Amino acid sequence: MASAKQSKKMRILLIPFFATSHIGPYIDFAVRLAAARPGAVEPTVAVTPANVAVVRSALERHGPAASGTVRIVTYPFPRVDGLAPGVENLSTAGDDAWRIDAAAIDEALSRPAQEALLRERSPDAVVSDYHFFWTSSIAAELGLPCVVFSVIAPFSGLVMRILAGAVVSGSRDVTVPGLPGPEIRIPVSELPEFLRRPAKDQGTFSPCNAAQARCLGVAYNTFAGMEQEYREANVRAKSLKRCYFVGPVSLPLPAAAAGTSESPCIRWLDSRPNCSVVYVCFGTYAAISEDQLRELALGLEASGEPFLWVVRADGWTPPEGWEQRVGERGMLVRGWAPQTAVLAHPAVGAFLTHCGSSSLLEAAAAGVPMLTWPLVFDQFIEERLVTDVLGIGERVWSGARSTRYEERELVPAEAVARAVARFLEPGGPGEAARGRARDLAVKAHAAVAEGGSSSRDLHRLIDDLVEARAATSSCNADSE
Ligand SMILES: *[C@@H]1O[C@H](CO)[C@@H](O)[C@H](O)[C@H]1NC(C)=O
Ligand SMILES: *[C@@H]1O[C@H](CO)[C@@H](O)[C@H](O)[C@H]1NC(C)=O
Repeated sequence: MASAKQSKKMRILLIPFFATSHIGPYIDFAVRLAAARPGAVEPTVAVTPANVAVVRSALERHGPAASGTVRIVTYPFPRVDGLAPGVENLSTAGDDAWRIDAAAIDEALSRPAQEALLRERSPDAVVSDYHFFWTSSIAAELGLPCVVFSVIAPFSGLVMRILAGAVVSGSRDVTVPGLPGPEIRIPVSELPEFLRRPAKDQGTFSPCNAAQARCLGVAYNTFAGMEQEYREANVRAKSLKRCYFVGPVSLPLPAAAAGTSESPCIRWLDSRPNCSVVYVCFGTYAAISEDQLRELALGLEASGEPFLWVVRADGWTPPEGWEQRVGERGMLVRGWAPQTAVLAHPAVGAFLTHCGSSSLLEAAAAGVPMLTWPLVFDQFIEERLVTDVLGIGERVWSGARSTRYEERELVPAEAVARAVARFLEPGGPGEAARGRARDLAVKAHAAVAEGGSSSRDLHRLIDDLVEARAATSSCNADSE
């Protein structure tokens, strides 16, 4: 009987939030699930139509064999007032990004299509993003186990949970109480917007929190070497039933990504000495002013260091004569670069980053130290993990920083130039950070290797899903 169950395929439906920064790790996770039990686990990723292209490009990184193990299904994007048709992810929503966030946690808007999909596909298990709290209720009705896959790191999730409702109005900064590890102090201006509101206006996430606790457990895209210290406190603070550290899901580097040598930026990196280039990328959605882009451009120029800069802003042009002056020393990429492969390239010596959780993890997995420049949401908290906890990076600017666009101080070109040059200097702070980052990368690779901690957690997760599914289906069979 047990063997009959085991021979049956486990069909897992994964539902990521509407953002490239979530869909990417979800795809990597789906590929890992399939690879952990070849032929026995069948992952399917559910997205809205305009995000299929994002899924396809994320799958392409894994090459034809691995990408063939993950199926894609679509469901309609909710009708959201104020959003143009076809705008279905944070990356393209611009100033309307909040509408996407709001729609994602709006049960009346987003539940019906997801529920119809779940009932129609009737998978054996559901893995959904934090926002879609109703999936746990639907799963319970259908007798399916559900798990939340979180792209937000436990450290930052824990800090936010502790601070929710705890920020005293009028105070300038907060120390995070009851946190393991070093003391973390954060100016209120650097906290995510919802934590800056009075406690009574922060309630919108509570159903999501409750759903996490109801599910079989939460799987995190992180690994023991990075955040083990926060594991127990995270489980306790959130009353989680189980917690799995399954990352970095971007590792091992897919053969296809290793073979991105045709990409112009990889070819350019090939021509550079080891650890000489600063890779600059601010992720897929936070807005940066044109004035700030200009200062950044001039700062990179003045630093004298080689750089690879990915700019998302459409229509932005560098200052007059800048491209000629920089010449071969710098490369400007518009749109998208193969980030995992870039970070793994030996020529990259530092990563100037906005501290998005996936970017941090990819840099740690590649052993690249970071220059931190957080912009929005929990990025200033993530920064503390890099600078205060792990010691694998330094902040670029210590002036007034804020999660609010209008409160941010312009970081002048000289400050950028100074921070970059100092960090890349041999024997400087960047070198010490690089040593620690490299130790962390060794641990990351060991974690995902067969028998490593993340690999064991991934297998444990699949076993738990299979067991939970068997338990509910035999109950159903008995009651029928
Ligand atoms: C985001 O969605 C738009 C359509 O809404 C799509 O064209 C685009 O490819 C998606 N991905 C990114 C990275 O913008
Ligand atoms: C550069 O790094 C690569 C990969 O780590 C290594 O094989 C090579 O020997 C290094 N080159 C120099 C000149 O140190």
